[in-house]
Amino acid sequence: MKVLITAGATYERIDPVRFIGNYSTGKMGFALAETCAEHGFEVVLIAGKVNLQTQHAGIQRIDVESAEEMYNAVMENFTDCDIAIWCAAVADFTPEKVYSEKVKRGQDDLIIRLKPTKDIAAAAGKIKRENQILIGFALETNNEELNALSKMQRKNLDMIVLNSLKDSGAGFGCDTNKVTVFKKNGEKISLPLMSKKEVAEEVVKEIENISTFAPKKK
Ligand code: C5P
Repeated sequence: MKVLITAGATYERIDPVRFIGNYSTGKMGFALAETCAEHGFEVVLIAGKVNLQTQHAGIQRIDVESAEEMYNAVMENFTDCDIAIWCAAVADFTPEKVYSEKVKRGQDDLIIRLKPTKDIAAAAGKIKRENQILIGFALETNNEELNALSKMQRKNLDMIVLNSLKDSGAGFGCDTNKVTVFKKNGEKISLPLMSKKEVAEEVVKEIENISTFAPKKK
C-alpha cells in the first residue's frame, strides 16, 4: 500500500526576501510518515517549509515551497497512491504579483493583493478513485465539529482529524495534540491529549480499519 502525505507550511513569496507563511512545523505530518513507514506502507512525503529530518528509509521525501509547488507534487503522485493524508497547512492565498526586487520602504502603505490558491485536498477529492482513502486534518477556532464535517464532505474525505486551537497542548509547534476523529460512516472518536506520535499511531490504526474493507487495487 502506498501512502501520500502532505506536511508543514507553504511559503508564498512576496519578493526575494519575504514571504507569507504560517506557524505549522510539520511535526504531525512527519510523525504520520514515520508511523506509516513503520507499519510497512510505502510513503511519499510532500513537505513544505519545515525544519525536520525523516528517519525511516522507507520514506520518499519531496520538498516544496509554495502551495502551487505542493499542488503539482501531489498531482504527480496521487494516481498511484492508495491512501492520502492531507496534513499540510497550505496557504489559502498567495500574492497576485511577486516582486523581482526587494520592496523598499516608502511613505505610502504597501498593498499586496492576494489571490486564492488551489485547494489540493478538494482537487484530489474530485478525481479520487473508489478504492482510494483520503484523510484530512482541520484546525478550527470556532464551530469546530460543524466545520470539520462540512470539510470532510466538500473535500470528499473518508476521515477528518479535528484539532482545536482552544485545547491547550494542541496545534502548532507542540509535541502533543488533542484530536477528534470523524469518519464518513458517522463514527466519532475523541482522543485524549497525547504525543503527536501516539496520535499518528491512532490515525494509522483507523486507516488500517478502513483499508481492510476497501476493495483491493485493480
Ligand atoms: O484549510 P482547511 O481548513 O480547508 O484545510 C482542511 C484540509 O484541507 C487539510 O487537510 C489541509 O491539508 C487541506 N488543504 C489542502 N489545500 C489547501 C487548503 C487545505 O490540501 N489549499
